[in-house]
Amino acid sequence: MTTHRIGVIGGDGIGPEVIAVGLDVIAATGVELDTVDYDLGGARYLRDGVVLTDEIVDEWRELDALYLGAVGTPDVPPGVIERGLLLKMRFDLDLYINQRPFVLEGSHEFVVIRENTEGTYAGEGGFLRKSSPHEIATQGSVNTRHGVERCVRYAFELADGRPRRHLTLVHKTNVLTFSGDLWARTFDEVAGEYPRVDTAYNHVDAACIYFVQEPQRYDVIVTDNLFGDILTDLGGAVSGGIGLASSANLRPGGVSMFEPVHGSAPDIAGRDEANPIAAILSGALMLDHLGEGEAADRIRAACGAYADHPGSTTEIGRAIVDELTGGR
Ligand code: NAI
Ligand code: MG
Repeated sequence: MTTHRIGVIGGDGIGPEVIAVGLDVIAATGVELDTVDYDLGGARYLRDGVVLTDEIVDEWRELDALYLGAVGTPDVPPGVIERGLLLKMRFDLDLYINQRPFVLEGSHEFVVIRENTEGTYAGEGGFLRKSSPHEIATQGSVNTRHGVERCVRYAFELADGRPRRHLTLVHKTNVLTFSGDLWARTFDEVAGEYPRVDTAYNHVDAACIYFVQEPQRYDVIVTDNLFGDILTDLGGAVSGGIGLASSANLRPGGVSMFEPVHGSAPDIAGRDEANPIAAILSGALMLDHLGEGEAADRIRAACGAYADHPGSTTEIGRAIVDELTGGR
């Protein structure tokens, strides 16, 4: 059996609590991890000023995956950790896919693939005459053929391997006539290579209605960075809430990062109250990526029984571990 080398960043607040449970659950499947702990986040920054160094990123490139809890503490100025740690990780490791699965009542599952490195989040733009009455701020959207195509291609690959084989492009092509045109043309061209995948297109505003009223229409969705950020929060809200939402930040073929969608929840930190399922399901996504799909499926099945279960972090974790080991 292969042992996978995993960098673990528990982070702040409830991050270390839910990651500890996630690691216990993975161990219960029999999958072996060799973990390296990284003490990073708001608390570390307040202690010695370190957010994330290039040396650490270079170590990460040698690992099989990263498993992250949540980072951020109330007493660190906004932006320091988000830009210095989360965005640096995303850009330096070129984690160009953000993948989030959503499970609805009736067990329908759909997946959003969000482009994770370009669009309005690429940082193009600036100020002119800042803080004067004539101030101008621009914030451009960067869309490269290379960046769009690799994301769209990943989504087609994923859809092609699922039973329904259905992929929806979400954008706003009627108004964003330049970036939308590049996305739509790329989508249509790549579609030609995947004749088994049925395709659809929704404007993002219409997609918001369907997310709430008719999410069953979706199998896989692909969209840009900004629309994906907003749609995935909506997806979380219509599918059981923040305690269940898991995510993968992927570089297919390279080291990728897996984390719950929620933050460090300082309001409940240290009280054994956090729902660990989002972290556990993120661990399952990591196992998928490591080629341990069978163990990942067993974790998802075990979590299903506890989605609405009251209980503390450790109680829910123990119940899921028992489910996986048959109470041994
Ligand atoms: P948050 O997700 O930490 O908390 C929002 C609300 O949801 C809180 O009431 C919290 O108690 C609750 N909550 C979150 N996760 C939960 C869980 N597993 N079980 C039960 N309840 C849960 O978002 P917030 O308050 O905006 O941010 C807190 C800190 O986390 C900030 O420093 C923020 O920057 C950071 N953050 C970090 C993220 C990351 O590491 N990727 C993502 C989002 C926020
Ligand atoms: Mg968000």
